[in-house]
Amino acid sequence: MNQNILNAAIEFVHGLFADEYSGHDWYHTYRVLRTAEKIAVQEGADLLTVQLSALLHDVDDRKLSPETCAEKLRARLFLESHGVCTGEINRIIKIIDEVSFLGTDSVVPSTIEGCCVQDADRLDAIGAIGIGRAFAYGGSHHRLMHDPQELPVDGMDAAAYCASCSTTINHFYEKLLLLPALMTTATGRNLADSRGKYINDFLEEFLAEWNGER
Ligand code: ADP
Ligand code: NI
Repeated sequence: MNQNILNAAIEFVHGLFADEYSGHDWYHTYRVLRTAEKIAVQEGADLLTVQLSALLHDVDDRKLSPETCAEKLRARLFLESHGVCTGEINRIIKIIDEVSFLGTDSVVPSTIEGCCVQDADRLDAIGAIGIGRAFAYGGSHHRLMHDPQELPVDGMDAAAYCASCSTTINHFYEKLLLLPALMTTATGRNLADSRGKYINDFLEEFLAEWNGER
C-alpha cells in the first residue's frame, strides 16, 4: 500500500515538472525525497508522512502554481483520490505550508516530519547543486548574475522577499548563506556544514574574479 501511493506520487510529480527549468525540475523533488528520508531515519520521524510531504512539497508552489497555492489543491486532491485519511492529509498540508523560506517570516515547522522536509529542501538550495539551481533560476527569470550597483537587502519579510527580483549573487546574501543556521534538525545541521562552506568559498572566488583580483 505504502509503495503504491509513493509510486503514484512519483509519477504525478514527474508529469507536473516535465517542462520545468527554473531549479524545480523533478530531480529537485527526488533529491529532497532522498535527503528527507535520510534525515527522518536519523531523527526517528514518521517515514511515510515525510516521503509524501517531500514528494508533494512543490506541486502547489506559489511561483509554479499560484492558483492552487493557497489551498494546496493539487496535493490535497492527490491525497484524497488515493484514499489518505483527513487527519493525515491535514498533517501533510501543514508540512507543505510551513516548508518555504520567506525571509524573516519563515517558520520553524511544528512537527519533526516538517523539520525533516524543510531541512532537506533547504539543503538542496546550498552546496554545488544549490549554486547550479540558483543560476538556473536566475537565467530562466532573465536576471543578471551580478550587478555591483544593486546591493543585497537585509531582513526582508515575506512580502518583500516574494516581490523581490534579486540578481543571483544577491540571492546568496538574501537566502542561501542564511540557510545553514536555519536548519532545525541535528542531521540537517551536519549535512549543511560542508555545503555552507562550499557556497561561501564559491562566492569569495566569484567576487575575486569579478574584481580582477584573481
Ligand atoms: P525551494 O524549492 O527550495 O523552496 P525556491 O522556490 O525558493 O526553492 O526557489 C527555487 C530555486 O531557485 C532555489 O534553488 C532557490 O535558491 C533559487 N532562487 C530563488 N530565488 C532566486 C533568485 N532571486 N536568484 C537566484 N536563484 C533563486
Ligand atoms: Ni523545493
